[in-house]
Amino acid sequence: MPNHIAIFGANGTIGSEFTRVLSSHYPDAIIHAFSRRPQESAAKNITTHQIDYLDEAALKNAAKEVSEQAPLDLVIVATGILHTDDIMPEKSLRDLSADKFMQLYQVNTIVPALIAKYFVPILNKQQPALFAALSARVGSISDNHLGGWYSYRASKAALNMIIRNVAIETRRTNKNAIICALHPGTVDSALSEPFQKNVPEGKLFTAEFSVSQLLQVIDKLSTDDSGKIFAWDGSEIQP
Ligand SMILES: NC(=O)c1ccc[n+]([C@@H]2O[C@H](COP(=O)([O-])OP(=O)(O)OC[C@H]3O[C@@H](n4cnc5c(N)ncnc54)[C@H](OP(=O)(O)O)[C@@H]3O)[C@@H](O)[C@H]2O)c1
Repeated sequence: MPNHIAIFGANGTIGSEFTRVLSSHYPDAIIHAFSRRPQESAAKNITTHQIDYLDEAALKNAAKEVSEQAPLDLVIVATGILHTDDIMPEKSLRDLSADKFMQLYQVNTIVPALIAKYFVPILNKQQPALFAALSARVGSISDNHLGGWYSYRASKAALNMIIRNVAIETRRTNKNAIICALHPGTVDSALSEPFQKNVPEGKLFTAEFSVSQLLQVIDKLSTDDSGKIFAWDGSEIQP
């Protein structure tokens, strides 16, 4: 049972659902909800933090503050972008631009890597503790049969590599740490909204469904699973 939890991207559709469900499942746990935007605490056991995920000094201070209470049992990173007001996923090589790549890598790869830099070292060493980042099945190179979405796919493939690296390195210092990537399925959110018409009937999940599935997946993970990518139904995704 996690007693001390941190969630990043806590204002997002999936991040806010993780925060809500974990807060209600574990009323005695301390939950830190991190977001770029100001948030109101929705429950007594949630402490909200506003943070710039690229500000390393802020991440370092936050990790110090959190670890002074206790080591973390669970860290969920639910940040990510697929499109912005100015960017839509590339359909073709013609649509590639340095700016798109840099923005997508910054949010999808660099942000979770920096969060790992400061929050993996404060995972609990006495009992199994999980650091999980929301990735995407389309970041799997072996599963790519459709093409397109160059920068999103590449940024999530790079995230999967970061997760594998962190898992290998952390094994040496924390035998109880589990570092993994999670694919939530296609979830009804601002991120998926422009693409929902292509989703087959019954495959567009609510955040409630996806998060309840992911919590069951997380519950079954062991240290042997560190470095891997898991989908909402518990199946392993090959990189
Ligand atoms: N929805 C899907 O169908 C789907 C499918 C596969 C994978 N995923 C992955 O699941 C994760 C969560 O997605 P979601 O559906 O919950 O999307 P969402 O509702 O758009 O939430 C994403 C969150 O990411 C953070 N974020 C957005 N722009 C950012 C920026 N420029 N810099 C830093 N952080 C930024 C924000 O969190 P704060 O405002 O709280 O900081 C935002 O609320 C993402 O990693 C996504 O790639 C989603």
